[in-house]
Amino acid sequence: MEDPCSRSCYLNGKYLPFNKAGINPLDLGFIRGYALLEVLRTYNGKIFAFNDHYQRLKDGADFLKLKIPVSKSEFRKIIEVLIKKNQLKEVKIKIVLSGGVPEEELAIPSKQTLFVYAKPLKTYPQELYKRGVKLISLDHKRANPQIKVANYVEAIRFHHLLKAKKASELLYIYNKNVYECSSSNIFIFKKNTLITPNHAVLPGVTRKYTLSLASKYFKTIIKPITYQELIKADEVFITSTTREIMPVIKIDHYKIGNGKVGAKTKFLMEKWQEFIQKKYFN
Ligand code: PDD
Repeated sequence: MEDPCSRSCYLNGKYLPFNKAGINPLDLGFIRGYALLEVLRTYNGKIFAFNDHYQRLKDGADFLKLKIPVSKSEFRKIIEVLIKKNQLKEVKIKIVLSGGVPEEELAIPSKQTLFVYAKPLKTYPQELYKRGVKLISLDHKRANPQIKVANYVEAIRFHHLLKAKKASELLYIYNKNVYECSSSNIFIFKKNTLITPNHAVLPGVTRKYTLSLASKYFKTIIKPITYQELIKADEVFITSTTREIMPVIKIDHYKIGNGKVGAKTKFLMEKWQEFIQKKYFN
């Protein structure tokens, strides 16, 4: 197995090996969980949807009253340098913008911490796309769901359930409403209409491009979805940067549709691959 310490990362203006990259333990990200996370990927070595990810980080930073210490073009450069330095082709990039060290208890520090690293992209087994995956619901709604806060307490606390129940994602349900999964957005097909929840969800980048692709072929609606509607849907799928479009065939003990990957989901998965091929491989 590759030793991640041999790779370099970016921390507050410097490129360093992982084991030389230390942060101050008084950083608000560490002490109080005051930090943002962004996850990007490449296709054919090119960064996917950089502008969308940067904007989401910027929106989160504005909400948390944090400053991104580099310009947008410097940001892109940092990622490109890391890909090159690490001699990686397809990568997953993680960005953490954290509060920094406070001058006064619970006050926002004047200087933030910026940490960026790239690691080889690990995609999901093809089998999951062929057979579909299972979700298990959890009574939860993220606080400040419109931003990607680095705090994934419930996702980590209940991660063990995934293995135990042979599921792929935790599904956040609150007051019988469906929101998102622990690291993906959710969609349902009801006849020819594609629906995804409208509020209290992360504005997923893959969600945005999926909606735009789907709107060429189906009616698309962004509105609340109840748990009852979800389990009675014709088809269900989830989206994320690393999963792309992944079909769901079971939620808790309910089979979705006939328990097989639906035709419309399959169609969208193909359209997604065509879109990626055209944009990044030509
Ligand atoms: N997860 N909802 C949550 C809570 C997420 O953490 C994510 C992303 C998404 C999907 O967003 P996008 O399409 O922009 O990746 C929705 C990433 C991949 C992660 O935490 O690893």
